[in-house]
Amino acid sequence: MKVIVVKDYTELSKKAAFFVAEEIKKKPDLVLGLATGSTPLGMYRELVKLFQNGEVDFSRVITFNLDEYVGLSPEDKNSYHYYMFENFFKHINIPPENIHIPNGIADDIEEECRRYDEEILKYERIDLQILGIGINGHIGFNEPGDELITSTHVTELSEETRKANSKFFESPDEVPRFAITMGLGTIMKARKILLLASGKEKAKIIFEFLGEESVSTKVPASFLLIHPDVTCIIDEKAAQLIKGQG
Ligand code: F6R
Repeated sequence: MKVIVVKDYTELSKKAAFFVAEEIKKKPDLVLGLATGSTPLGMYRELVKLFQNGEVDFSRVITFNLDEYVGLSPEDKNSYHYYMFENFFKHINIPPENIHIPNGIADDIEEECRRYDEEILKYERIDLQILGIGINGHIGFNEPGDELITSTHVTELSEETRKANSKFFESPDEVPRFAITMGLGTIMKARKILLLASGKEKAKIIFEFLGEESVSTKVPASFLLIHPDVTCIIDEKAAQLIKGQG
């Protein structure tokens, strides 16, 4: 695992965008796995700038988002559909048919999970997966537990996650209880993974996860320790408990 510690969120966002753009240059039809939340917002802004400057072309890129809340429609301001279009897709030249996000209001959610995996399998696997990390070590919405599910599935969000994500909602009660998430197997099959972490509230989990000597379903991100190609870009605040790396 490669760990890059950068000064602050601005540098993290630029570095992450540059990393993604380089992968697209190498493979214009890159299958790109995307995350939402606070952490990648700056990266999306920087990627939009690179696109506007003619430095990256998304016309052949295929995207798969990690997750979506169950019960929120694409028009809902808190849905990840809405987030992705507002913050990224509507500003770049990606064809709509290349965009994949689980449908949180599908009539048959189990069927939707199966359909999502089939779509991913059409491309064999994800080339580059972007990840954030939850304060409890979740990746995607694969929450700590006794077991982790490999394929796309419905998951009950932990109280910690609902509390952390309530910053986007008017009240904590509005945060949905369930989400569709890509499974850990799909994430681990990605050729390359880029994990981003920013801010002091991530320092403890970054310290714990990088210090793990075994993988554990209690810290889903620990599985990344056995993936052959993971880069972590972490800002100084998130890295404050780790030493001698960078
Ligand atoms: C979002 C996702 C989550 C977030 C994580 C960190 O699509 O899959 O795992 O990456 O909850 O969220 P932020 O960046 O808001 O701290």
